[in-house]
Amino acid sequence: MHVGISSDLVRKRGWIITVISVGRVPVPVLIVHDKASDRFYAMDAVCAHFGCGLLTDINGLNARCPIHGAVYDVRTGARVIEPSSNPASPCGFCAGRLPLRTYAASDDNGTIDLEV
Ligand code: FES
Repeated sequence: MHVGISSDLVRKRGWIITVISVGRVPVPVLIVHDKASDRFYAMDAVCAHFGCGLLTDINGLNARCPIHGAVYDVRTGARVIEPSSNPASPCGFCAGRLPLRTYAASDDNGTIDLEV
């Protein structure tokens, strides 16, 4: 699935959030560019804790939730740091899904392509 985002823009910004349709459900997806390998990674951008956090605090290949500080590895969707409060409470929207869903992402002639 082409997501209509310039791969050069993602390289320049380092990361971006877009919305795709999985089935008929809109899903916010975080796309991160790894400068070292020139690879792209994509992962659901909604925190699996309370689901209220869009993952917008990006440091390298880690995405931190701004609400309670949970950190996810964008390569695997694994939560590498637990939330600072009530870590066992899952998000109803995400049904507590861990790891977060990831997508193969690549540069297809200047446009990001995701395998959904
Ligand atoms: S909602 Fe993300 S850590 Fe709590």
